[in-house]
Amino acid sequence: MSRLKITGGKTLSGTINISGAKNSAVALLPAAILAKSKCKIYKVPKIRDIEYLLKILEVLGCTYKIEEDQIEIDTTNLKNAPVPEELSQQMRASYYFMGTLLARFKRAEICFPGGCNFGSRPIDLHIKGFEALGAKVEIIKSRYIITAKKLVGARIYLDFASVGATINIMLAATYAKGQTIIENAAREPEIINVASFLINMGCKITGAGTSTIIIEGSEELDNGVVEVFPDRIEAATYVIMGALCGKNLHIKGIIKDHINATLIKLKDVGCEFKATNDEVVISKCKKIMPTDVHTQVFPGFPTDVQQVFTVLLTQAKGKSHISENIYELRFESAMLLNKMGADTYANKNVLTINGPTKLRGANLTVPDLRGGAALVLGALIAKGDTILDNIPLILRGYEDIVEKLSNVGAKIEIIE
Ligand code: UD1
Repeated sequence: MSRLKITGGKTLSGTINISGAKNSAVALLPAAILAKSKCKIYKVPKIRDIEYLLKILEVLGCTYKIEEDQIEIDTTNLKNAPVPEELSQQMRASYYFMGTLLARFKRAEICFPGGCNFGSRPIDLHIKGFEALGAKVEIIKSRYIITAKKLVGARIYLDFASVGATINIMLAATYAKGQTIIENAAREPEIINVASFLINMGCKITGAGTSTIIIEGSEELDNGVVEVFPDRIEAATYVIMGALCGKNLHIKGIIKDHINATLIKLKDVGCEFKATNDEVVISKCKKIMPTDVHTQVFPGFPTDVQQVFTVLLTQAKGKSHISENIYELRFESAMLLNKMGADTYANKNVLTINGPTKLRGANLTVPDLRGGAALVLGALIAKGDTILDNIPLILRGYEDIVEKLSNVGAKIEIIE
């Protein structure tokens, strides 16, 4: 099993180009089957989740051509096959095939989605949405069987502004008869990215990026073209790395508005940087002040950045708190940082971080994707070597992380 070896204490300097967003791309590939013959997606990151989604597309009879970071998908021979368990369990986003298969065939058969394990991750809001459109949902052993005689547009209120439920309901509604209105929809950029793909295929959608999305059902969607947005979580991760070990580190190809919450928090703790619409230039922060962070839905501070931000706060002088309001159990990586010398403790959904603490290298097992990125950052500022096991979890979300960090001066390598 391969592992990551990182030697801490190096300065990061140069340019890191941000890849296409994992969380957009993993919805855009399932959305491709809404096109009746073909579509094209630009700037697709080369990450594990995409490999699995392409395998699912093959099972469904699609063919595709990959040229650098572009994927052209031919859906002419699309068939409605059950999504195999070994594929759907590899990632959470496999659940987007529920919405798209239901839209195309009025039937979807798929196992419980996989994904990182940090507490309960129900999909009841997705199911309620499908039911509101007229579908019947049966759960047999670990399989969801979702069927509908016909799908009819409906007014759907989400009890929580879930990213996954908003996208899945939008996907299912594309071929429903009439108008669907999603109230209290999530406003994350991924939703705008998916909506623009569907609009490009011919679907009428308004309000994506606001709390009310209106979808007019279509009979024929085709020829969609879309570019995956820059990965806002990857961008925030590298900006925070720059705040701890950068020297004029350029993070390029971002959409600044997508990472505003992180940038504002960095300013709050005393970090200085230059930001334009598509780039941040940052150097090591001289004096880090403690702060309190509350994770929230977009445009609030993202739960996906909280674990990496925790590493920054281990270097702040004083007591900081992170209130995790989306996934209550997302502190496993902080407990592992303690093994490197950090001083953190969790009480229910609040993590307290006492700083500053000197970190030292350790042998650790990556607990989840973003927690893995946090441990990489911990290792970059630690004294000595860190060895990380279970690295496929990190590679699921960070395209070329080893190359990107090596290119700017980090000592990081994959070892067997
Ligand atoms: C997506 C992201 C994930 C990110 C999360 C929050 C993808 C593939 N993953 O996950 O990286 O951490 O947004 O920004 O895009 N909930 C329910 N019932 C549901 C659906 C969600 O109770 O049917 C709850 C969840 O348990 C969680 C909260 O709503 O507490 C947010 O979940 P959601 O926004 O749906 O996250 P995901 O789409 O799973």
